[in-house]
Amino acid sequence: MLTGRRIVLGVSGGVAAYKAAYLARRLMEAGAKVRCVLTDAATEFVGAQTFAAITGEYPVVGFFDEADVSPHTTLGQWADAMIIAPATAATMAKLASGLSDNVLIGTALAAEAPLVVAPAMHTEMWSKPATQRNIAEIVADGAIVVGPAVGPLAGGDVGQGRMVEPEAIVAAVAAALTRELDGWRVLVTAGGTREAIDPVRYIGNRSSGKMGNAIAVEAASRGADVVLVTSAPPPAMAGVSVISVETAQEMAEATWAQAGDCDVAVMAAAVADFRPKNPEAAKLRRNEGLPAIDLEPTPDVLAGVAAMEPRPFLVGFAAETGSLDGALRKATSKDIDLLVGNDVAKTGSGFATDTNEVTVYTPDGSAETWPLLTKREVASRLWDRIIASYDRG
Ligand SMILES: Cc1cc2nc3c(=O)[nH]c(=O)nc-3n(C[C@H](O)[C@H](O)[C@H](O)COP(=O)(O)O)c2cc1C
Repeated sequence: MLTGRRIVLGVSGGVAAYKAAYLARRLMEAGAKVRCVLTDAATEFVGAQTFAAITGEYPVVGFFDEADVSPHTTLGQWADAMIIAPATAATMAKLASGLSDNVLIGTALAAEAPLVVAPAMHTEMWSKPATQRNIAEIVADGAIVVGPAVGPLAGGDVGQGRMVEPEAIVAAVAAALTRELDGWRVLVTAGGTREAIDPVRYIGNRSSGKMGNAIAVEAASRGADVVLVTSAPPPAMAGVSVISVETAQEMAEATWAQAGDCDVAVMAAAVADFRPKNPEAAKLRRNEGLPAIDLEPTPDVLAGVAAMEPRPFLVGFAAETGSLDGALRKATSKDIDLLVGNDVAKTGSGFATDTNEVTVYTPDGSAETWPLLTKREVASRLWDRIIASYDRG
């Protein structure tokens, strides 16, 4: 899978450093040439000798204690791809701001190769605004971030923060090097629409756009040219161009204008089914009594794309509560290629969470339920599934 590819593995100082030794082994087994660069803190968790024994090369640990006068540029220029696993909160902060005060960050700055980052830390550290700001910067700068996953953490805790398994990191670096969506144009819709009642109020829904954003970011990190039609705050990432919309009508118009040029359309937005027929021009007032709000149907964005001739490979989403029967009906009746159903009432799933548990349906009604995963992991599996199902010709 990685035959002859030159991989720099950067290891920073978290408990998951023990898994980095196994990751080095898996990279070697996949045919890669591996060189490691460790932070000082990483050596508190795993000895440099371990990586030397696995890769056949002594890891680089300091700027100034190496035979090489410029180890960071030598390693950075050598790399076909670089991985940082585990990436601690401290290392991510340095990476986000370009603070090259250790040789791992120096190498990451000197490298022009794809960078895969696998964060690992306690849930509290991961969810802090500072960490989230840093990770957003890292993604915006073009790195491919995998995880963190939900699961057991150090000290017996459980939550999001666990480094993804080495196999997933090997797969991510292989995908980054093959850029299997190079040349693909992809349309993603995200967020919930707002339908005006009056200039102040609207009918909306709880969609945060996180699932659609993850799908867009995953596609761009695999090399796709992505158009994201969204009513939610978008991710900043090279390869993702954003069209901001608010209403179902605007989402329909933007989507239909773009879909004809796309290979794949993934419709993750939560589009209103109904809107006020005659939105008021001025704010409704309490003292004028209870208003009667007449509703009318909104355009069916998904059906509009399904009716195009030719049309892109089409993936729909269905947000259900309690039972996924509606998702199954949509999968078999809407002339689409895949349907992702989720129960948004379930803990950890659906709107505004970072995780999701989904069932993927095909038009013949067959179903595959995935475990509770981060939205990025769902996005990654979904793209694997699309690539396996879509014959691009
Ligand atoms: C036992 C122990 C476990 C730690 N695990 C983590 C961790 O999983 N993630 C993290 O971000 N920091 C963790 N830290 C804190 C880092 O080691 C510390 O922030 C260090 O400065 C990171 O340096 P580095 O990023 O240069 O390797 C841990 C510290 C200790 C003592």
